[in-house]
Amino acid sequence: MLISPSVLNSNLGRLSEEISKVEGVADLIHLDVMDNHFVPNLTFGLPVVASVIAQTSLRADVHLMINDPDRWAPAYGEAGAYSVTFHIEAAKNPLTLCENIRSTGARAAAALKPETNLESLNGILEYLDMILIMTVEPGFGGQTFMSDMMPKVARARELGGAEIWIEVDGGVSHNTIMECKDAGANVFVAGSCVYSNPDPAQVVRELRAMVEK
Ligand code: DX5
Ligand code: ZN
Repeated sequence: MLISPSVLNSNLGRLSEEISKVEGVADLIHLDVMDNHFVPNLTFGLPVVASVIAQTSLRADVHLMINDPDRWAPAYGEAGAYSVTFHIEAAKNPLTLCENIRSTGARAAAALKPETNLESLNGILEYLDMILIMTVEPGFGGQTFMSDMMPKVARARELGGAEIWIEVDGGVSHNTIMECKDAGANVFVAGSCVYSNPDPAQVVRELRAMVEK
C-alpha cells in the first residue's frame, strides 16, 4: 500500500517546501505534467521534474498528461523518475514506449481516462509495471471522485494479478480511499485532500492507517 501525494494543488511557488512536508511520510511524490493539449491545463515539464528529483528523497511518480508521450516520456526516466506514467489514449506505440521507459530503469505505467476501456491495454500488459485508473477526468485537482470506476479497478487487478500495481488518481480522500482499496488498488494518489490541510504529513499518516488496517 503506497500513498502518493500530488503537488498539483499545493503552493507551486514553494514547491520544494511543499514536497518536504511529506518527506519521510509518503511513499512516492506524484508529479502531474500537463501540456495544455492532452488536457486543458498547463503545469511543469522536464526541467522542473528533474530539479525536484535531484532535491527530494521521495521517489517520483510522474504522471504525464501530454500528447506524444512516445517522444517525451523516456527522458523523465533518464532524469531519475521512479515511475513514468503515460496516457494510453495518447501513445502511438505503447509497447515500444514501455520498453523505452524501462530501459531507463524506471517503472513503466499506463493511465486510462474514465471513458477508456481496459481493452486498450491488450497486448502490453506484460510490459507494464502499473496501471493508473483515473477516478476523475484528468486536468484538475479537487474534482469529485467517480465511484463508478471501481469495477474497472477490480478488473485491472484481475488482469494484472499480484504483479502489476494498480493506482487510483482523482478525488481520493478519507471518504473514498477504502472503496479504492477494496476494489484492488494499492497505490493511492491524493492531492487536495493532503495539501488543503495545514498538516499534510498527518493526512498521509491517516490515509495510510486506513488502507493498512
Ligand atoms: C488530475 C491529476 C491528479 C490530481 C489529483 O488530473 O492527475 O493527480 O492532482 O488531485 P485530487 O486528489 O485533488 O483529485
Ligand atoms: Zn495525477
